[in-house]
Amino acid sequence: MEFNINNAISELRGTHSLDDSSLKNLITSEDTSPLHEAADIERKRVYGDAVYIRGLIEFTNHCKNNCFYCGIRAGNASLSRYRLTHEEIMDCCREGYALGFRTFVLQGGEDGYYTDKALCDIVYDIKSLYSDCAVTLSVGERSRESYKKLFDAGADRYLLRHETADPKHYAKLHPNSMSLENRKRCLWDLKEIGYQVGSGFMVGSPYQTLDNLISDLRFLQELLPDMIGIGPFLPHSDTPFGDFEKGSLKMCLNLISILRLMFPYALIPATTALGTIHPSGREMGLKAGANVVMPNLSPVKFRTLYELYDNKICTGDESAQCRSCLEMRVSSAGYKLVTDIGNVRRDELEK
Ligand code: 5AD
Ligand code: FES
Repeated sequence: MEFNINNAISELRGTHSLDDSSLKNLITSEDTSPLHEAADIERKRVYGDAVYIRGLIEFTNHCKNNCFYCGIRAGNASLSRYRLTHEEIMDCCREGYALGFRTFVLQGGEDGYYTDKALCDIVYDIKSLYSDCAVTLSVGERSRESYKKLFDAGADRYLLRHETADPKHYAKLHPNSMSLENRKRCLWDLKEIGYQVGSGFMVGSPYQTLDNLISDLRFLQELLPDMIGIGPFLPHSDTPFGDFEKGSLKMCLNLISILRLMFPYALIPATTALGTIHPSGREMGLKAGANVVMPNLSPVKFRTLYELYDNKICTGDESAQCRSCLEMRVSSAGYKLVTDIGNVRRDELEK
């Protein structure tokens, strides 16, 4: 059957799903304004013009893993490594709270230095001081017991991208010590424990095919995550993938719109990688259906050391500058930055 973009969009909007071949056409479509418009209508129906902010605290760039794409991989010997102390993390939260942040995202490499006890103490202290805030963790693969302890200490949300839902593609992006199976196990554990869970994938990562992207969407349809983060792959010169092409901005924006139509309730960030690939990438992401921004709250002196890919933006700006810069970008795109805790509108799922 001939592909008709308007029919595909209305089926996706009406049923929250679509056959593989039409999805591939949408992902690669050049004529994307009807897709972005439909996604924008859907995000406004569920979330109005609100855009939520999350303060990102990159608290360690030590990582035991060796993902081929990632700038903070253990094998990158040219990187100086840092860790924030408990007090430094609390300082970031204090500054963030004063700036209106009501969600703190603690992100780091897989760093054994932060034992369950150390991380639980941090989470517990943040939640005690700022009981009106959500704590999101993004610290990679851990045991179910560890996830449970962190949840009991007060963590509300967890971000762990699946990166690619095809096991063969997964093996091309990661060393043998890592598996898609364990990644998925982590995501299901997190969900069962009660976290609001975020997953996602890179767009245009090396060796990625359109079929891989379909697998990503199908996996998300099983998992039904609360948050979905995607961004273009960007090469980092000190990694094995340093010479690969970056992902496509257009494809990334198309996928954001598809995600919005498939998962109307989802919290979808306009990611830093989008802002890095194009000066107004984040604004374009918002207009394509994203509804979250994550300004950097890390101490400025460490920011260049958390380079997952080359030329990452926001590395020289104070937290307050990042916040006001984003406030301006959000309103220039036609939305409103809100300092709400910004929980998922899960009730949408039952409709
Ligand atoms: N390009 C784009 N995104 C990357 N990430 C890691 N390395 C890169 C890269 N080179 C993404 C991964 C990870 C998230 C924190 O950053 O998807 O889950
Ligand atoms: Fe750290 Fe990939 S190099 S999680």
